[in-house]
Amino acid sequence: MQKVGIRGGMGLSDKKYSDKPSTYYQIKGYAGLTSMAEYIKPYIPKSSLYVEPFAGLGRTVEKKHDKIILNDMSDYSVKYLKEHFPFAEVTQEDFEKCMLKWDSEETFFLIDPVWRKNIYKNNTKPFCDRTPIQYYDKLLNEIIPKLRGRWILCVDRDEHEIGKRVSRSKHKNIVLQHPTKKLFGRNVAVRLCSNMWGNEIE
Ligand SMILES: C[S@@+](CC[C@H](N)C(=O)[O-])C[C@H]1O[C@@H](n2cnc3c(N)ncnc32)[C@H](O)[C@@H]1O
Repeated sequence: MQKVGIRGGMGLSDKKYSDKPSTYYQIKGYAGLTSMAEYIKPYIPKSSLYVEPFAGLGRTVEKKHDKIILNDMSDYSVKYLKEHFPFAEVTQEDFEKCMLKWDSEETFFLIDPVWRKNIYKNNTKPFCDRTPIQYYDKLLNEIIPKLRGRWILCVDRDEHEIGKRVSRSKHKNIVLQHPTKKLFGRNVAVRLCSNMWGNEIE
């Protein structure tokens, strides 16, 4: 049974956060790439092994890969993924374990971690056990350097809660913008970085 709010070690509290259905992100639903998935999909190569370590509701999944692993720590997500993607293998492990287990030269990872902790504080469905900085530091400094596979890492365009860790990394970035949808007066957008788009910046 999942607890509410941000959980786990790392000095974060087990405080129970607002369950009010009026909070913005509960109205908008489960965190993820809802508006931008269609624009990200063309960048995802057809792969022998497609792995999403933070699969959420699997908005970027397409049935074009030979084998698909959808992993998430949220009970809600795991149930949803099993129901909606019967052709995929659904797992419920910490992202680090999942990524190191499935890494190979044939693997493609679509990596979409937690961008903003308040979205998770105000929504009981997704899982969150650390801050965005802790997710991105673990990925960029410890996991990604070990990977043999190809990957795309996602974050909000302005990297609000991670201090520009993605744009300052050695990996090439692109920003995709929705042609019409707006949020807080700006077009909805996502920042992607990858090891597939030319030389890494040394
Ligand atoms: C931004 S959402 C992914 C949304 C997905 N890309 C989509 O569009 O549906 C991040 C996901 O990471 C999951 N998560 C958070 N911490 C995790 C961890 N330590 N290991 C695995 N999954 C985790 C959350 O439950 C959440 O579903």
